[in-house]
Amino acid sequence: MSIPKVRKAVFPVGGLGTRFLPATKAMPKEMLPVVDKPLIQYAVEEARAAGIEEFIFVTGRGKSAIEDHFDQSWELQEQLETKNKHQELAALGEWLPAAGAVAYTRQMEPLGLGHAVWCARNLVGDEPFAVLLADDLVLSQTACLKQMTDAYAEAGGNIVAVMDVPREHTNRYGILEPGETSGSLVQVKGLVEKPAPEVAPSTLSIIGRYILQPEVFSQLEKGERGAGNEIQLTDALAAQIGTDPFHGLRFEGERFDCGDKAGFLRANIAFALEREELRDDVQAFINNFANNS
Ligand code: UTP
Repeated sequence: MSIPKVRKAVFPVGGLGTRFLPATKAMPKEMLPVVDKPLIQYAVEEARAAGIEEFIFVTGRGKSAIEDHFDQSWELQEQLETKNKHQELAALGEWLPAAGAVAYTRQMEPLGLGHAVWCARNLVGDEPFAVLLADDLVLSQTACLKQMTDAYAEAGGNIVAVMDVPREHTNRYGILEPGETSGSLVQVKGLVEKPAPEVAPSTLSIIGRYILQPEVFSQLEKGERGAGNEIQLTDALAAQIGTDPFHGLRFEGERFDCGDKAGFLRANIAFALEREELRDDVQAFINNFANNS
C-alpha cells in the first residue's frame, strides 16, 4: 500500500506562555522574534520547506496578532511601495501562504497539547498530518520537518523528532522507550510523559515535531488527563504503540527550546551568527563580553 503524502500541518498556539510574562501578557509567545522573525513564522516556513500545503492554527484568547501576521498588510505595503523600499516589502509577505491555505480554530480552554491537537480534528480529516510547536526552533541544514517527511515516505506510521537530553532533564519532556535502531530511525516501544530521571526509560526526548496518523484523534477524544492534569499528546501516542509503525527520528540540527528564557536567548545568538550582516558585530560583542566578565 502506498504511503499518503503529508499535506497538512497543525500549529498549536493556544498555550498561555506564563514563563515569558510580562512579555506575553498582551502578545502571543509565538510572536516573540528570534532576530527579526516571529517564532511562528520559522515554524510555517519549515512546514512549507517540507511540502505542507495547508496550515491549521489552533489558537486561543489574545492570539489575534498571529492571524494578522499571516495576512496582507495593505497600508504598510502601500507606504513601502511609495518609498521604493523593495527589500522591506519582501520581508513583509513573500513568505505568506496562499489565500485559503491557512485555517484557524480556537482551543477555547488551554487543557493541554493533546486537547489542542484534538481541536484540529475536523480541519485535518482522515489523513496523516504534521504537528509543529513553534517554541521548539531547529537550526539545521535541511528543515527538520523535511527530514521527517523523507523518513515517513519510507517508514509510514507515526514519527516524532527525538534528541538526547541530560538525564536530570527527563522530567521536562516526553521520553522514549527505544526499540531497534535503523540509521537515524529508532523504533518506539514505549513513551512516558515527564518521567523522573531515575525511572526514565532512556534520555531520548521528543521535541515539538510530529507526523501523526488520524487515528490519534479517537484516542484524544476520550479526554484522558495525564501529567499536570492536562490532556497529553504523548499519552495518546503511547496508547497507539503496536498498531501502526512508530519511530523516533534523530534529526540533524540543533534544537532551541524557545519556551524557556535561556533557550530563547541562545536561539537569538545562534540565529544572529548565521546572518552575514550581523555575524561580525555579534561575535565581537560576545568575545568582548566574555573577556570582561
Ligand atoms: P508549554 O508547555 O510550553 O505551555 O506548551 P505554554 O502555556 O505554551 O507555556 P508556559 O509553560 O506557560 O510558559 C507547549 C506547546 O503546546 C501548546 C503551546 O502553545 C506550546 O506550543 N499548547 C499547550 C497549546 O496549544 N494548548 C495548551 O493547552 C497547552
